Amino acid sequence: MESAEVFRQEAHKMVDWIADYYKEIEKFPVKALCKPGSVFGQIPDSPPESPEEMKDIFSDFERIILPGITHWQSPSFFAYFPANSSFPSILAEFLSSALGAQCMKWETSPAATELEEAVMIWLRKMTGIPSHFEGVIQDTASTSTLCAILSAREHASGFRINAKGMEKQPVMRVYCSSEAHSSVEKAVKIAGIGKENLIKIGYDEEFRMRPNLLEKAIATDISAGYRPVCVVAALGTTGSTAIDPLQQIAEICSKYQVWLHVDAAMAGSALILPEYRWMLKGIEQADSLVFNPHKWLFTNFDCSAYFVRDSETLINTFKLVPEYLKTQIPEHVNDYSNWGIQLGRRFRALKLWFVIRAFGTRALQEKLRKHIAIAADLKGKIEAHPDFEIMAPVHFNLVCFRFHPQGFDEAELNKINEELLLNLNNTGKIYISHTKLNGIYTLRIVTGQTHVDFHHAHKAWDLIADTAEKCMKNGRK
Ligand SMILES: Cc1ncc(COP(=O)(O)O)c(C=O)c1O
Repeated sequence: MESAEVFRQEAHKMVDWIADYYKEIEKFPVKALCKPGSVFGQIPDSPPESPEEMKDIFSDFERIILPGITHWQSPSFFAYFPANSSFPSILAEFLSSALGAQCMKWETSPAATELEEAVMIWLRKMTGIPSHFEGVIQDTASTSTLCAILSAREHASGFRINAKGMEKQPVMRVYCSSEAHSSVEKAVKIAGIGKENLIKIGYDEEFRMRPNLLEKAIATDISAGYRPVCVVAALGTTGSTAIDPLQQIAEICSKYQVWLHVDAAMAGSALILPEYRWMLKGIEQADSLVFNPHKWLFTNFDCSAYFVRDSETLINTFKLVPEYLKTQIPEHVNDYSNWGIQLGRRFRALKLWFVIRAFGTRALQEKLRKHIAIAADLKGKIEAHPDFEIMAPVHFNLVCFRFHPQGFDEAELNKINEELLLNLNNTGKIYISHTKLNGIYTLRIVTGQTHVDFHHAHKAWDLIADTAEKCMKNGRK
């Protein structure tokens, strides 16, 4: 398909397909119901030697690939935090693919760098992040948190570890709550700190980190000769969207001169709502913060907004300029490949720009408020049912709950809820997920999908209540 004319025809067909896909998305089973190996088994062992027709490739896409797709953009996708998309974002992704620009340095696409600078300032203003923070787009929150922990490590060692490795360094310690995301542990492993040096701090009755336990752990570690280097506080944990008390944690970090990284991967988007800004109290003292517009700001995966108080530390941690990457551009431009791990970078700022402009900040706020209202409505229905219970406070778009009929012990309830999840997801009508809170098997329903509305959540709830009833009857037979 070398000719632009053939491309034009095929692209038009594909745009039609995409528009229809979104119109009819609810016809597909939300979670792929295929068996393991079923897609692989249909792909020929060897690649074709001669060109194939696009119509044949596309028909195989529909026949082989589509049944193996879980439809994340379905309004009945309630599992996990969303990876939500929107039409302006898709259009920007078209353009970004078409340009095919690799935006590693200012010179390799000045517009990509400068638009990234501009939209990160927009995001900072939209969320109330203080103006002394600078932003850069990373691929994921996992990468952003890794950048934070590497920066903290280098900051603490005076950049000696980058130069000499770990020799003669005191053993470093990192702290987060036991409810923090697994990406913290992964980052600690990659940074060479060692996962046994990640200290998981206990939480309170709302799954928030307990600052008194944090301070105790840091003080005990210092007396034992360890070097506390970083605390990761969560605004919106994965399990239950718990909000760690940032201000108290920030004071402890200041007192002991420990890097404070804030993981607001999903819930950070809620900072565009003034009524959620209280969560940020203490942020002036933090060193870095991440949130993902690719989770709850209608911008296609991947797009993770990473903000730092001191970009020099970030750049000193990562900067390398071999001869072949030197340009004649003056020093004052940003070469974002020095602000993180990747050299090659996609033009991610474009989709964020399209989204913010096409929605406008007011419509973005309205959409988030609607998702929050849908979650609150669901919570009300669950609370009103005698055999269900809410398992954690509902702050944003996540409702944690379980089926709790009378006459079963905890182990049996765990099994009943596990079976309920399986039965619900196998219907193909909805997709929900689970976690364990205080060891209790808990169902999670997330109302953050771009096109979700009250009626989708109501249908989901009816199905959950019905299926639970059936599960219990079967269990009692
Ligand atoms: C609180 C939190 N942090 C980090 C992550 C990881 O996000 P990513 O997939 O962008 O690495 C998640 C994912 O859900 C999360 O909930």
